[in-house]
Amino acid sequence: MDFQLSEEHLMIRETARNFAQNVLKKGVIERDRDMIHPTEEVKQMGELGFMGMMVSPEWGGGGMDALSYVIAMEELSKIDASASVIMSVNNSLYCWGLEAFGTAEQKEKYLKPVASGQVSGAFCLSEPEAGSDATSQRTTAEDKGDYYLLNGTKNWITNGGKAQYYLVIAQTHPELGHKGINVLIVEKGMPGFEIGAKEDKLGIRASDTHSLLFTDVKVPKANRIGEDGFGFKFAMKTLDGGRIGIAAQALGIAAGAYELAVQYSKERKAFGKEISQHQAIQFKLADMATQIEAARLLVYRSAWMKDQGLDYGTASAMAKMYAADVAMKVTVEAVQVHGGYGYVKEYHVERLMRDAKITQIYEGTNEIQRIVIGRSVLSGK
Ligand code: CAA
Repeated sequence: MDFQLSEEHLMIRETARNFAQNVLKKGVIERDRDMIHPTEEVKQMGELGFMGMMVSPEWGGGGMDALSYVIAMEELSKIDASASVIMSVNNSLYCWGLEAFGTAEQKEKYLKPVASGQVSGAFCLSEPEAGSDATSQRTTAEDKGDYYLLNGTKNWITNGGKAQYYLVIAQTHPELGHKGINVLIVEKGMPGFEIGAKEDKLGIRASDTHSLLFTDVKVPKANRIGEDGFGFKFAMKTLDGGRIGIAAQALGIAAGAYELAVQYSKERKAFGKEISQHQAIQFKLADMATQIEAARLLVYRSAWMKDQGLDYGTASAMAKMYAADVAMKVTVEAVQVHGGYGYVKEYHVERLMRDAKITQIYEGTNEIQRIVIGRSVLSGK
């Protein structure tokens, strides 16, 4: 078993770390406070190849492995989890499924510009009444011969206002349940497609989260991905990989807060010495370091399994569940180590604590991850 990162992986880590420190850090507090989308920063992420890392160069991507992706996600998330979720949705939820199941024509038109970072993509599964229970899709895609008539509402869509292209999950044959669901590529500007309200969120406030409204949108049949009825499986397979990205985001949030806590504990003095010299703080740092290392092993392992072509659905659910819980615990402790300073924006840890919470919720709540893991355990796979 080799735990050593390759030269290439170390270089990706260095590039991502420098970008996060030198570009993302500047203005991160203000973007969070005022909900300002990091448009210029995302453009630069595209130039660095971060927006379609795992997509083949043939389709405008970086041709890198999933381990490279999680390493970059971790570094960006240490500083700016809003920028990293934009990256994660683009890579895992939009590009991956299109490359895996799209036609050459679909990839030429809808994958190339997104994988190369010129425009971004969004993944639209959640609805006002279909979050965890994803089979209960109310959005309909009525088959009208050479097009689908799309009607319904999607909620909490990351990149909702900023994306150019959207993968929309919708029900075509309600009598078939989840086997009647399709996935359609929808373009911004198609008549009847409206961007709804922007969410005012607890964390990841600079990422752009909207509801989307579809009223009699005519989507050409050529924009359906896969066979008729493939939409639900498409969404589930996509989320298996998406959870690796969110696990890496959670890992980065935890690691970022921990690094700040270590640094602060060496600077702050109390009772005549640096607080790092007090056991009360050392015990906290020891727990944080151990939990982060355990999360990193799960995250890297799930990426490695994906790279090996192994079945990674359970591994990604485990990584996401554990890393998200660690992110929550570690960020709360990082605020505690900072004392009163931890409660103000200037010290960054309060933002990381708010950002951590969403990792326990999106791409399947941690209760959903436990369902996925539990079923796998019981099936003996
Ligand atoms: N891969 C392939 N197929 C899968 C699958 C997977 N990982 N998981 C399930 N399926 C298939 C099943 O085999 C089954 O197919 P058959 O009937 O042909 O056997 C079908 O899908 C239905 O599966 P289940 O019976 O297991 O379905 P269920 O209703 O019990 O739900 C669930 C399963 C795991 C709970 C699922 O609904 C789920 O993952 N829910 C959470 C949804 C979610 O993660 N939403 C996040 C939105 S995106 C987001 O958050 C993005 C963002 O903003 C960043």
